[in-house]
Amino acid sequence: MTAKQKIFWLRLVTLVGLCVPAVELAWRWWNGDLEPRPVTVATHATGDWAIIFLMLSLAMTPARTLFDWMPLVHVRRRIGVAAALYALAHLLVYVLDQKWNLLVVATEILRRFYLTIGFASLVVLVALAITSTDGWQKRLKRNWKRLHWLVYPAVAVAIVHFFIQSKVRIGEPAFTAGLFAWLMLWRVLPARLQKSWGGLALLAVAATLATVVFEAAWYGLVNGLDPRRVLSPYLDIDLAPRPAQKVLLASLLVMAAVALRRLFLAANRLWTKRYIQSTIPAP
Ligand code: HEM
Repeated sequence: MTAKQKIFWLRLVTLVGLCVPAVELAWRWWNGDLEPRPVTVATHATGDWAIIFLMLSLAMTPARTLFDWMPLVHVRRRIGVAAALYALAHLLVYVLDQKWNLLVVATEILRRFYLTIGFASLVVLVALAITSTDGWQKRLKRNWKRLHWLVYPAVAVAIVHFFIQSKVRIGEPAFTAGLFAWLMLWRVLPARLQKSWGGLALLAVAATLATVVFEAAWYGLVNGLDPRRVLSPYLDIDLAPRPAQKVLLASLLVMAAVALRRLFLAANRLWTKRYIQSTIPAP
């Protein structure tokens, strides 16, 4: 397959993958599968997919470096745009929930902190999606990079929104925050560590510990619980997997995938070398 064909297929598969959750949700809604509270299910599903696609778009740069696979740069932008569209759909469903009363929506957004920060994150994500085109990149020149750096605080704020709305069941937002920590820490690692096993092992440990710290800080600061009590469920096998254990597992899976990819590339190089040697006529 030529490089152009590879990019074409990758773009197509990505586009289909990005549309599937929306189509599936619309289909289930249409068929009455979301009863008795279709709007609540749709609010949660669109919010979840917005955050999943945001994390995925942030994962593209490390993935390209770790898997040594350039075509991934061609899908990063559209995953980010899809995340913004899912976040917009999330707001639309909320507006629907408020019977299209925009005054109530605006008042609620101003009154409830978790909605205020959700709205702030959404505004940034939509602005980034609009300016993600080549035309805007040329127009904004060096300021484009500065503007698009805002994706990191926007995701952080969206995760806080996720935490607050989860109330005391913070397993999913804590896991998301741990993955976000992995992605951010990877970016600040020195270039030579970003691809090394030592760097990846360091990231696995740091992201796991960061998840425990997020959980403890949340329970301590928001719920007034003794942060040390966060650790006790980690010792109970029946409560596994806890968010930090999931982050550790995800980090180890990344390492395993990188190992497989490197093995594949090494085998490919060896095969190509042997093939070239076999085609050279003996003197
Ligand atoms: C004006 C903007 C926003 C509004 C009005 C809004 C509103 C809501 C509401 C009402 C909920 C459910 C709360 C509950 O059931 O108690 C929710 C949950 C959620 N929102 Fe938002 N949100 C906004 C922006 C965002 C953005 C920008 C993101 C992510 C990029 C996001 C991600 C989520 C997630 C992940 C959940 C939890 C879903 C789950 O628990 O399964 N929201 N939001």
